[in-house]
Amino acid sequence: MDIIFKDVNYTYQPNTPFSHHALKTINLEIQSGSFIAIVGHTGSGKSTLLQHLNGLLKPTSGQISLGNTELPGATSKQLKDLRQQVGLVFQNPEHQLFEETVKKDLLFGPKNFGFNVKDVEKELNDVMEQVGLDHTVLERSPFELSGGQMRRVAIAGMLLVKPQVLVLDEPTAGLDPSGQKEMLQMFKALHEMKQHTIILVTHSMEDALNYAEQVVVMNQGQIECVNKPEDLMHNQERLRRIGLDIPEPIESIRYMKERLGLEWQEKEYTEEAISRTLIEYIKAGATS
Ligand SMILES: Nc1ncnc2c1ncn2[C@@H]1O[C@H](COP(=O)(O)OP(=O)(O)OP(=O)(O)O)[C@@H](O)[C@H]1O
Ligand SMILES: [Mg+2]
Repeated sequence: MDIIFKDVNYTYQPNTPFSHHALKTINLEIQSGSFIAIVGHTGSGKSTLLQHLNGLLKPTSGQISLGNTELPGATSKQLKDLRQQVGLVFQNPEHQLFEETVKKDLLFGPKNFGFNVKDVEKELNDVMEQVGLDHTVLERSPFELSGGQMRRVAIAGMLLVKPQVLVLDEPTAGLDPSGQKEMLQMFKALHEMKQHTIILVTHSMEDALNYAEQVVVMNQGQIECVNKPEDLMHNQERLRRIGLDIPEPIESIRYMKERLGLEWQEKEYTEEAISRTLIEYIKAGATS
């Protein structure tokens, strides 16, 4: 489903002393099947924006189209369908776990959407493996788990209802570096194999660059810019001004371009890719 935000504003607790204008005239198009990263400093409105994607929050003004569903104004049946089609994993996964055992928690969503429980139970092991959870946690209380395990349970629960759009609010927070990489690789594989739309909020500009096709930069409730990863380096000054740092690999690539005239051909923005490019450059120099 294509997602279109048109002049969306959102104010928390309007007409109270706690009123906060958290989204300001957001215009954004997310094409079906794309991989988008959203970055921005703390409090810039990322989580607020995400919660509009499955109708948890509704715009104070403006319109959002999600496939054939319009917000505000969707019927409760449309909202229920939307919540199956758009899976949201919260920034604090403990907020979305509530059952006595992990297994009950994992089955709650599929039951709620009318899935056949026997079929879902058959998929349970695969999904647990996919997110890196041992089956011994199934009978434990979700609240006894570590932060990283809770996050994996929340992600597994989302996958079991088979959404087309995966909305992930810092899904790798609390995981160790290898767990972070595995989780992102899993989302990338889902994106590539099943054409899922992925919308990922991350504090890591490197992850945004290496996984997303478009990077949305938010600043104080507004969209500062939307760039392809390879174009972000041209916006370095703008990003610095709003307190975001360009990761080192991008700095090095820009430097190589300016000083050596090197064209960047790699798909990933990593130290390894830089080394490969430099080795090729040196080799070419040695043979010319
Ligand atoms: N329930 C609420 N009531 C009033 N203001 C709120 C509420 N929730 C969030 N805000 C405010 O809205 C702004 C945007 O918050 P949001 O959580 O969307 O930011 P964020 O970009 O996700 O930040 P972070 O990177 O820290 O997760 C912040 O200034 C925040 O204080
Ligand atoms: Mg947030």
